[in-house]
Amino acid sequence: MVWAITHHDTLQELLADPRVAKNAKHWNLYREGRLPEGWPLMTFITVPGMTTSDGADHRRLRGLVSQALTPRRIAALAPAIEQRVARLLDGVAALDGDFDLRTHFALPLPMQVIGELLGLAEEQADLLHELSNTLVSSSATPGAGATAALNLGGLLARVAAAKRAEPADDLTTALIAAREEQDRLSEEELIGILMQLVVAGHETTLNLICNAVRALLAHPDQLALVLNGEVGWSAVVEETLRYDGPVGQFPMRYALEDIRVGDVLIRRGEAMLASYAAAGRDDRHYADADRFDLTRTGNRHLSLGHGPHFCIGSSLARLEAETALRELFTRFPGLRLADGADPKPIASFVSNSVSTLMVRTS
Ligand code: HEM
Repeated sequence: MVWAITHHDTLQELLADPRVAKNAKHWNLYREGRLPEGWPLMTFITVPGMTTSDGADHRRLRGLVSQALTPRRIAALAPAIEQRVARLLDGVAALDGDFDLRTHFALPLPMQVIGELLGLAEEQADLLHELSNTLVSSSATPGAGATAALNLGGLLARVAAAKRAEPADDLTTALIAAREEQDRLSEEELIGILMQLVVAGHETTLNLICNAVRALLAHPDQLALVLNGEVGWSAVVEETLRYDGPVGQFPMRYALEDIRVGDVLIRRGEAMLASYAAAGRDDRHYADADRFDLTRTGNRHLSLGHGPHFCIGSSLARLEAETALRELFTRFPGLRLADGADPKPIASFVSNSVSTLMVRTS
């Protein structure tokens, strides 16, 4: 039994509830070996790291990474992100006719940025994306998730070995130092954290940029508000996070004891999905929840999480998305969906966006 927590207020409470844990050892089905062979999300829920740990273990792992992602450090990346955006837009401008904004713009930006933070080679970007995409897919063929995790883990272990031999000024080297000098991180945790940063560091921001562009193109009145300067780009980012959350549902959380939620009893050992995209549209919490409204006030969405596992990359995600959207629409104010474009949802209950976004610049 897995419960989808779709109501905003219930989700907010459970995300901060000490009776709810993230280590899969608390899940009856997992502990008793009752999950189907080759279940696509098995690696996702068991890879050692921040998203699968609790309490002191979680604080130790999170502490090592959070130093590299403080709002101040992220703000210092702004000029480099602007340059990357400008270069990608030059590339887009040189394309002839319709093109897929997801492939040519929304994907390479966060991939390059997280790649640079971690010190990954640019040539590895396509493979890294393909592997992490399979890892978060809830519809991959049996075993594909595990194979992707094995390959991604192997690739990142080779990166770690190279950094050990030749340390650099990047987050991977800093994590290795924490592992080797202070023995604060196991090898498995090191690779798990790198994996989580690669996956969470780009799939989500990619979706956010695509979802914002779609929402703006579908609501010309709202696009006009931002182009006229009546609302800022951060309002676009925050309203898109609420209206079309990039993380559909985050697997899994487990009840450490029986938890009563209204007239529902979540039993000890049962699993829960944090249904972020649904919570953003909860009309018990938001007035006119299905309306994309950039002038909305009091938008305290949960789409970047809440409680101890709140998104550690939130400042980076906001900076990247805001820069990308501002520069994209400043350069191409006439951007529109390509004729006949029919964006299809990604086949995943984790990743919430479209698989392609065909557009034209005029
Ligand atoms: C955690 C969303 C960007 C790294 C989370 C969570 C959410 C989220 C909802 C909580 C997951 C849960 O436990 O239920 C997003 C969205 C993003 C984004 C919507 C972009 C728009 C990023 C970036 C990075 C990142 C850029 C890396 C630099 C992480 C990590 C965690 C996390 C490592 C786990 C934290 C923990 O368990 O303590 N994110 N994220 N995210 N995010 Fe993000």
